[in-house]
Amino acid sequence: MARRGKVSVIGAGFYGSTTALRLAEYDIFETVVLTDVVEGKPEGLALDLNQSRWIEGFETKLIGQTTGPNGEGYEMIAGSEIVIITAGLPRKPGMSRMDLIETNAKIMRSVAENIAKHAPGAIVINVANPLDEMTALAQLVTGFPFQRVIGQAGMLDTARFTHFVAEELNVPVASVTTLTLGSHGDTMVPVASACSVDGKPLADLLSADKIEELVVRTRNGGAEVVALLKTGSAYYAPSAAAARMAKAVIEDSGAVMPVCAWVDGEYGISGVYLGVEAEIGRQGVRKVVEGDLSESELAGLRDAAEAVRAKQADIADL
Ligand code: NAI
Ligand code: 2OP
Repeated sequence: MARRGKVSVIGAGFYGSTTALRLAEYDIFETVVLTDVVEGKPEGLALDLNQSRWIEGFETKLIGQTTGPNGEGYEMIAGSEIVIITAGLPRKPGMSRMDLIETNAKIMRSVAENIAKHAPGAIVINVANPLDEMTALAQLVTGFPFQRVIGQAGMLDTARFTHFVAEELNVPVASVTTLTLGSHGDTMVPVASACSVDGKPLADLLSADKIEELVVRTRNGGAEVVALLKTGSAYYAPSAAAARMAKAVIEDSGAVMPVCAWVDGEYGISGVYLGVEAEIGRQGVRKVVEGDLSESELAGLRDAAEAVRAKQADIADL
């Protein structure tokens, strides 16, 4: 099998290490680099992951690299086609994603500067929270074209919505189609009008009250896991989402996915990073794909854009 390319994952915490595992197990990349500021952590995880290759039957090689406060070690990401940023604090019970903004902005600045220096041709996929703001900051600091900096949230939120619908109706997840747009936060817009099961509109299968209950649970999906775990946030579904985005990039597949992308005119919204559907390929976002939304969903998306815009305006000062 032809393997190609190098993908680097910055941050070897729960999100980063599970993402590296998924990327390696796809067996489509030549190399997966995993970095962290904690001495020895990425090297230890990479060694452990490499030792699973024979059992799981993949040849992708993992390289672990500790990075220093002045960018030492970042040479290892040189030539990466894709860099996934997972470095940043996760929230604790009771915290909102927005409570992380100052701490994670400092981390993002140093990470993004080093990506720009050592992997200037990469597509950047950010997952650090607060997602929409940290994605905007990654673009600002790298100076990369907007289409080369994408955030991961919509795939995860959509996967959660799909799971809740499948559980409610006791049907396979593969038969369910759902969609979430907007921000990765309070102004998330689960798009009930785009949801179906085996092609039947969700509204024909569930009452409006039940759909609203699932919408609310989806919007609070991250907090529900945080409250159960008590230390840290979700990582299995999030890492699956980020890894799928990286796969679409390296395979130049043109897959249409809900992601955080720069919106420039679509839905009458301009100049903001926001959760929308986009076609993903080797250049990052090929184009934002506009779907049909009900009036209230469109209003929700526009509200989300304004809420995120207000916060994104502040990021240059962080
Ligand atoms: P974690 O605490 O397990 O790992 C974070 C890692 O980042 C730690 O190993 C830490 O040493 C490392 N780190 C800190 N500063 C660094 C730097 N300058 N360079 C490299 N590494 C650095 O947290 P976890 O669970 O991995 O979450 C990571 C981030 O992802 C958090 O901000 C969290 O909120 C976010 N997240 C986003 C989701 C999304 O859908 N977008 C879903 C789940 C988590
Ligand atoms: C999540 O949605 C915390 O953003 C993270 O799981």
